[in-house]
Amino acid sequence: MPATRLGKAAMRELLVGLKAMGAAPERSSSGGPSIRMTEYLGSDEKVTLRRSGDGMEIVGSGRGLLYGVFHLLRHLALGEEYPEWESSPAYPIRILDHWDNSDGSIERGYAGLSFFFQDGKPVCNERTKDYARLMASCGLNGCCINNVNVRGNALKLLGGSYKRELKRLASCLSEYGVSLWLSVSFSAPMELGGLDTADPLDEGVKQWWKETCLHLFTAIPNLAGFLVKADSEGRPGPHSYQRTQAEGANMLADAVRPFGGKILWRCFVYNCTQDWRDLKTDRARAQYDHFAGLDGQFRDNVYLQIKNGPVDFQIREPVSPLLGRLEHTSSMIEFQIAQEYTGQQRHVCYLIPMFREILDFRHRVRPEKDRTADRISAICAVSNTGNDYNWTGHDLAAANLFGFGLLSWDPSADPAEIARQWSILTFGDDPEVTETVTDILLRSRDVYEKYTAPLGIGWMCVPETHYGPSPDGFEYDRWGTYHRATHREIGVERGPEGTGYTEQYSPELAELYRNIESCPEELLLFFHRLPYDYRMKDGRTLLQRIYDDHFEGYEEAKAMADSWDKLEGKLDEETFRRVQVRFLEQVRSAAEWRDVINTWLHRLTLIPDEKGRTIYP
Ligand code: GCU
Repeated sequence: MPATRLGKAAMRELLVGLKAMGAAPERSSSGGPSIRMTEYLGSDEKVTLRRSGDGMEIVGSGRGLLYGVFHLLRHLALGEEYPEWESSPAYPIRILDHWDNSDGSIERGYAGLSFFFQDGKPVCNERTKDYARLMASCGLNGCCINNVNVRGNALKLLGGSYKRELKRLASCLSEYGVSLWLSVSFSAPMELGGLDTADPLDEGVKQWWKETCLHLFTAIPNLAGFLVKADSEGRPGPHSYQRTQAEGANMLADAVRPFGGKILWRCFVYNCTQDWRDLKTDRARAQYDHFAGLDGQFRDNVYLQIKNGPVDFQIREPVSPLLGRLEHTSSMIEFQIAQEYTGQQRHVCYLIPMFREILDFRHRVRPEKDRTADRISAICAVSNTGNDYNWTGHDLAAANLFGFGLLSWDPSADPAEIARQWSILTFGDDPEVTETVTDILLRSRDVYEKYTAPLGIGWMCVPETHYGPSPDGFEYDRWGTYHRATHREIGVERGPEGTGYTEQYSPELAELYRNIESCPEELLLFFHRLPYDYRMKDGRTLLQRIYDDHFEGYEEAKAMADSWDKLEGKLDEETFRRVQVRFLEQVRSAAEWRDVINTWLHRLTLIPDEKGRTIYP
């Protein structure tokens, strides 16, 4: 029998899970329970499942047992035999970043309000516990509960005003092996401590952080560290004091070190007040330009948190070149399962194939251990959860949460298999349902990409909300995201003749992207400025390809909705209808995207669609 709190949670989950499946733990021929747990002391996450006699044995530390039980339950629920499994996670830090505000709202949240904050305070209730179970069930072991943009009462989390609430919350999470992380403001010494500077080299500032950490970490044993958005979109940071990002991060790293704490330092540093007339500055270059030269200067308890692409979670971006550059600094990839730019959980967009491609991407800097998955030391995603009954607003968006968890444990997990498993675990094992749901999920990313901004160009959405089409919405704005389309050409040239962004990659990749002929077509307009009559590999013009994609994207969205409709009667009515309503919106929105993008291009170029389909003059 497990002895630790984690081990006991594992046992409880096993019993609850088996009961829910109608399978009481049978007795083996020797009379003992057929599923045996052997717990050893330790905090590692390794787990072994082995068949023994006519039952099975799960061996691990408390944490290991927990992951082992969920793995076992998953396979039993899939109707499989007792699985043999010996595994440990690829990364020791696997977390969800919640952009929850202390007033209960969620920045870029599409599934209701926060379940971490109510009335300005952190809360802990049954849902918190279910959340912790949910996390452990898909292999995740940490969560950062508050928005990276730290405002309002969230500032006070650090100062200890909500120590009691945080302690309770942390304890509830720790029962399932989930550590607590907090987003903190770099200028907290001024905002909370009344100092007149937040300069990381100032002795008073260092002291303030040390004392603050002493109080906080002592009160909350399950606190793992801080997440920091500094010098980014108006947030304070070391640049205000002419200090480097390394000087800023290291000062905090020293303050949390005595408690085993870690600093997750975001690399989302760029000029967000760019003048659109400025043709030289390229936002895509910013992260690499700010951080590449600092490689090796960070403390070993700092992790540089790098968004998967160089700009901001668009449906198609190249892999961030910074991920292929750091050799002497720990890095953490940041994905976004909150569908900010990918349909906001009103459109189905299964992101796991994209994440897998990014993790598999070879940076071509060394012969081995060269994939993103090999180079990073930690992994996180901006969460897509809220207090909606189904957690993620769109029922199918839960596949992204489940899939992210599984990939964070094993980055070589197969997105199609994850989709299949998720469908069976969620909707049961009717083969028609499984086939339909899996097929919708696997097609959904390409479909979304087709009817929205073309070929890696991104940003044709409505500013502020980031939902729906507005091809010129960002064009004369300050965010550094321009397509610079004229009646002849579209795109920003990022080769050496242009902004030089391609040269941030290894020589082999720079060569690949620099040349229009070898540049992957799906990224053509990310890397190059091209005339509309440029010939694609299949002989179509660039413009015709864009028109075609938009017509097809809409048809395919409609086909996905139609195949969902065929599941009527095979799922519970409420779930079926909830998803059906979202599909209605997706199809409406896809038509809007198709017509706006095609009409906008037609009006610019006056070139008709070769197939004579409706474009509005
Ligand atoms: C995007 C997003 C913001 C968020 C920011 C970030 O710009 O729109 O809401 O704060 O990313 O990642 O910090």
